[in-house]
Amino acid sequence: MIILSVESSCDETAVAVTRDGRSVLADEIFSQADMHALYGGVVPEIASRNHINVISRLADSAVKKAGIEKKDIDAVAVTFAPGLIGALLVGVNFAKSAAMALGVPLIPVHHIKGHIAANYIAFPELEPPFVGLIVSGGNSIIADVRTYTDIRIMGCSHDDAAGECFDKAARVLGLPYPGGKPMDDLAKGGDDGAFNLPRAKIAGHPYDMSFSGLKTAVVNIVHNSQQKGEDLDRASLAASFARAVSDTLVPRTIMAAKELGYDKISIAGGVAANSRIRADFEKAAAKEGLKLYVPPLKLCGDNGAMIGCQGYYEYLAGTVAGPELNAYATMDVDKVHF
Ligand code: KG4
Repeated sequence: MIILSVESSCDETAVAVTRDGRSVLADEIFSQADMHALYGGVVPEIASRNHINVISRLADSAVKKAGIEKKDIDAVAVTFAPGLIGALLVGVNFAKSAAMALGVPLIPVHHIKGHIAANYIAFPELEPPFVGLIVSGGNSIIADVRTYTDIRIMGCSHDDAAGECFDKAARVLGLPYPGGKPMDDLAKGGDDGAFNLPRAKIAGHPYDMSFSGLKTAVVNIVHNSQQKGEDLDRASLAASFARAVSDTLVPRTIMAAKELGYDKISIAGGVAANSRIRADFEKAAAKEGLKLYVPPLKLCGDNGAMIGCQGYYEYLAGTVAGPELNAYATMDVDKVHF
């Protein structure tokens, strides 16, 4: 089954062509990050307008690179929630029109399920059940991936997402947006024990997380050093910060797998590209005898292939939408409705 898939939930416009969920024939991505860097974060109106500018050309290019013709497309899959509403609407309306014009089914895909599916592309042997950690600019979720389509939230952040926290810490340290990669690079020369940063726990919710205290701590350290005119060891602050985020994510994910009796964990989303977090997961999984699935960097961030992959499994489960499909800014992954 050949699926044309569309992702436009934030500042990446992406269109892919996949076969039977696991095989990627083309994966076209246009990142707007440079356009938003000027403002230090994503400007929703600019994101929507840029999606409109490029989406048709990306789709044509994906079809060409896949070596197929439009008539070979069996279904169109699209991210319909969650995300920036104007940005999502561009992809949803494009996908609706494409499905109608081609006379093929329209498959709605939840963005978080798409991130989990990135691992199915990278690891053909991976099958549910497993524990999935999804850490991006907008979400930090520990999920019980029971089947390809039945996913339950075990824990999530009560405030900022991990990626958002990386971006805010980077901003106060004078690094460009998006700040995760520059923070990762800066941390490499630093001492991760130099700053004692908070690791929040939520009473009675062992899998839930909070990153706002960590963010505030970094902001205060930077401002205090500026006010006192002191030299700040930025590399060590970045390294201590990455360690604090990792200390929040890794033990919770491992504990979830042990509680459920699963032998597999996967990580996904833009923050899964972080070298410290990847290394800590490798060590912890090896220690606990768990098999760890970490997608290649290309599949960590938003992309169209992961939507095509998840779209395939949604289609097999009977999830098809009509032309009334709407987009939703928020929707929990275990309460999907459309
Ligand atoms: O999944 P993604 O591309 O978009 C969504 O938010 O859905 O994730 C983007 C986030 C940004 O906050 C970015 O700073 C972060 O992922 N990120 C990283 C790294 N690369 C990207 N965070 C930490 N370390 C990285 N190497």
